[in-house]
Amino acid sequence: MAEVLFQVDGVTKTYRTGDVEVWALRGVDLSLERGEMAVLLGPSGSGKSTLLNIMGGLDRATAGSVRCADHELTGFSERQLTQFRRDHIGFVFQFYNLIPSLTAYENVALVTEIASNPMDAGEALDMVGLKDRMDHFPAQLSGGEQQRVAIARAIVKRPDVLLCDEPTGALDSKTGVLVLDVLCRVNAEFNTTMAIITHNAAIRQIAHRVFSFRDGRIEESSTNAVRLPPSAVSW
Ligand SMILES: Nc1ncnc2c1ncn2[C@@H]1O[C@H](COP(=O)(O)OP(=O)(O)OP(=O)(O)O)[C@@H](O)[C@H]1O
Ligand SMILES: [Mg+2]
Repeated sequence: MAEVLFQVDGVTKTYRTGDVEVWALRGVDLSLERGEMAVLLGPSGSGKSTLLNIMGGLDRATAGSVRCADHELTGFSERQLTQFRRDHIGFVFQFYNLIPSLTAYENVALVTEIASNPMDAGEALDMVGLKDRMDHFPAQLSGGEQQRVAIARAIVKRPDVLLCDEPTGALDSKTGVLVLDVLCRVNAEFNTTMAIITHNAAIRQIAHRVFSFRDGRIEESSTNAVRLPPSAVSW
């Protein structure tokens, strides 16, 4: 039996601003097996980022439980959540958030200083196809290259899980394919469990499993019998 890595049960999330209460999640159940690549789809405001942030320990559920391996996040203190993120989770966002005054290598190497079992920063950059651009500053790299540096930075600590919120959202489709190729390679090579949020429904074809969100709920989930490599997806 495959190992269930993430188990999300009955998660709700409300935000209160003054008198207004927003229900971002209205009872979400989801499980991910180790090594599984999931794609999360759904309209704007349907709760995708909220769930991803709760799974990654950046935010807390209002009710319900979230477990990752033997970590029950629900009862964690801020300090425990920080430690959990540091040890287990890599994040990739739409905007790369690289430090402009550091080279690609230095941006990645920064993480290796606080990780417990990191790979070499050069190895991570090689993995994303940027070995020959290690000494470039972010401003000397294209958007797609900067995103690949951000992926190298996320994987260098060998996280169990990579959580990606619209990783190709700022890229054209050709560049997006390169970024998704890197994510698929990391998934295959390191068995990294992944959840990828996208507005591009075509990307569903690269996933093992697809979750469709609507109004704070998972409306539908499906498994792909056949996965396509990103280059074979028609955009
Ligand atoms: N910090 C917050 N305070 C108040 N409301 C919030 C907060 N974060 C999210 N929300 C609300 O929760 C709902 C879900 O937001 P979320 O960001 O998860 O949507 P999403 O599916 O990621 O949308 P998008 O595709 O536009 O990124 C929205 O109605 C949003 O306005
Ligand atoms: Mg979002």
